[in-house]
This record gives sequence, structure tokens and C-alpha cells, in this order.
Amino acid sequence: MSVVALARVEKTLAGLERKSRFRSVALGSGIDFASNDYLGLASSPRLKTAINTAIKRGVPVGAGGSRLLRGHHIEHEMLENEAAQFFGAERVLYFANGYAANSALFSTLPQREDLIVYDALIHASALEGILASKATATAVPHNDVDACELAVRKWRRQGGKGVPWIGVESLYSMDGDKAPLVGLAEIAERHDGFLVIDEAHATGVFGKDGRGLAADLPTRNNILTLHTCGKALGASGALLGGPAIIINYLVNRARNFIYSTAPSPLMAAAVREALHILADEPERRDHLERLMAHAGDRLQLQLAKTPSGSQILPVLIGDNGRAVSIARRMQAEGFDVRAIRPPTVPEGTARLRVSVTLNVDEEKISAMFERLSLALMESTP
Ligand SMILES: Cc1ncc(COP(=O)(O)O)c(C=O)c1O
Repeated sequence: MSVVALARVEKTLAGLERKSRFRSVALGSGIDFASNDYLGLASSPRLKTAINTAIKRGVPVGAGGSRLLRGHHIEHEMLENEAAQFFGAERVLYFANGYAANSALFSTLPQREDLIVYDALIHASALEGILASKATATAVPHNDVDACELAVRKWRRQGGKGVPWIGVESLYSMDGDKAPLVGLAEIAERHDGFLVIDEAHATGVFGKDGRGLAADLPTRNNILTLHTCGKALGASGALLGGPAIIINYLVNRARNFIYSTAPSPLMAAAVREALHILADEPERRDHLERLMAHAGDRLQLQLAKTPSGSQILPVLIGDNGRAVSIARRMQAEGFDVRAIRPPTVPEGTARLRVSVTLNVDEEKISAMFERLSLALMESTP
């Protein structure tokens, strides 16, 4: 191996170790307080049956090519048509995952003369697209509608003639709080722009039938919504919904849609079934809501922290090393709680990200918070 490359990677990894930022993959074990499988669908019999039935129908495992060549399958088409109906979008495009979709849309749609205003806590996949875009980009403080409006006004005053694109998550992945979508949608409308809403953590959980938090917005003409399928939907991929002409543009211009093998048609069949489950089994969402409320109560009672109001409950620790050692202790006691460190979250805000899913019950939630309260007390800041 190249001596220079070896020295370089060794130095970087040693630096990560020193700052308690070294990462490695670890198999999930213990009670699930870490996954995004919010509705417990990842191992649901209905999704397994959907895949089995699709195999019996002759649906292939691999798409065999890009969607624009031989890889386009009737399963993709059926999924996109049903998803458009379900999410109330004119058209939907199915991507292999949310990372690819976010990166595709932000790097492809905004042009050099445009402005991208994005929330400071936006997901890495959106940031990847924003960094690749030729448009002017500016971050605004988290959930600050006024700062967003000011950024657009300032750009217009300075001669900005293109389109302002506003990028947010509807439910933030590491904080569990919701975006002020109504105010943001009004800004997009007022300034002839677009609001791009990443519904990764809201899809399946919030909105009528789990359609997401954007589902209730009064107008959808200048809104794009991204519904990832690897979280509450229990499968994988991402459904981008919006005006048909915008989707057509992406089909013609988005490089990671065009130059990539289409997602497995079997996965498309599974995602379609997941959408049916959202509509047919509202009791899953009701159950999750009860668990969220219970977890919020325990968080308040045992850790004296204010709940986020969603299934994602961050427990702020601050120091990376301390967050990792508390998470390790929880894992050793049978609770799969993970530490989230920079650069995933801002410097100095390492945290435990507790997620509530149907893979646990009230008793397990109570037991976890009891142990966590002890672990916090016994770990020196
Ligand atoms: C907010 C947000 N957007 C996008 C993604 C990417 O989605 P996927 O896991 O399907 O690539 C994630 C998941 O990590 C996410 O949390």
C-alpha cells in the first residue's frame, strides 16, 4: 500500500480516536431504541408476503439497468402511481434511497442564478446536493422563519433574479422537532420559489394516514416532498413528489437517477405494500402515539428534560467521550441506545438519540429511562 496514503489515513483515524469521534459498525443487539423502524414494519409479515408474492408473479430481484434503459419495471410504475395518489402529488419518482434523492434534487434543480436557503440542521444528503449546486447557498438558523425571509429579501435586493429554493426537514432527524412549514411555504409562495421538504422522519408517523407533515399544507404547487422508505415504511428507497414537469426535468437531468441501476423491483413491491399498511392499519400510528407520550413523560420525570413531541427524543450530553461511554453502558445493560457525535450534530452537542418504535412497549421504555437516569448520574461530566 502507498506509504503516503497509509500515513495519511492513520493520522486521520488517530485524530478521530483522540476526539472520541472514531466510528465502527456494530450489530444491533438489545432492545431497539436506535432504529428508524418507527412502525415496526421492517420485519412485518405483510412486507415479507408482498415480496414472496412478487417473486411468485415473476418479478426479478435485480432491475438490470438504469430506469432510462431496460431497468424500468412495471413495479416501479405501479409504486409511483400509487404514491402520487397517496401523498397528493402530481407525480412521484422512486429513487434507490433518500441520500441519492436529496443529493439529486439539490444538485440538479437550482441553477446558477438561484438561491438555496437551507436550515442549519439539514441532513448531510441535502447538504451534499447543495454543495454540488452552482446556485448561491446560505444556511439560516434552525427553524427561523424570519431569517429565511430576510435571506431571500437580501438576495433579491442585491439583484437576485432567479428562483429561491428553501430546504428543510419536516421533522428533524437528530432533534425530533418539527419545522414551521406553513410560514416557510408562505415565503416560497411570496417569492415565487420552491419549498423542498424532507419528510424522512415524518412519513408514516404524522399527517393523515401517515402522509407526512406537508400533507396538510393548503397549496402544493411550489412544494417538493421527499418520503424515504427505509424508516417508518420498513423497506428502502425514496419517493420524491412534486409537479410533473419538475419530475420530468429530474428524469432528464439528475445524474444519480440517470446513471444508476434502478432499485430492485421487489423493493418497489414492498414499498407499495407499506403504503397499503399505512392506510389499512391506523392502529400502528395510534399505538406509536401512545408510546411517544409515555416516553415523553418518562423523559420529563426521570431526566427532567422537555420532550420533543415526536418519536425522536434527543438526550443532550455535550462531550463526545461521555456520550459514547453512557451509550456503551446502556448497551451492556441490554438497551440499544446510540451516541450521535459531530459532524452529524453540531460541535459540543453530542447526544444520545432515543427513538421510540413499535419494537418496544411501555414497560421497556420505563426500564430504559430508569437505567439511563442512573447512568447519567453516575457518569461524571
Ligand atoms: C432527514 C433525512 N433525509 C434523508 C436521509 C437519507 O435517506 P436514506 O437512508 O433512504 O438514504 C435520512 C436518513 O438517514 C435522513 O435522516
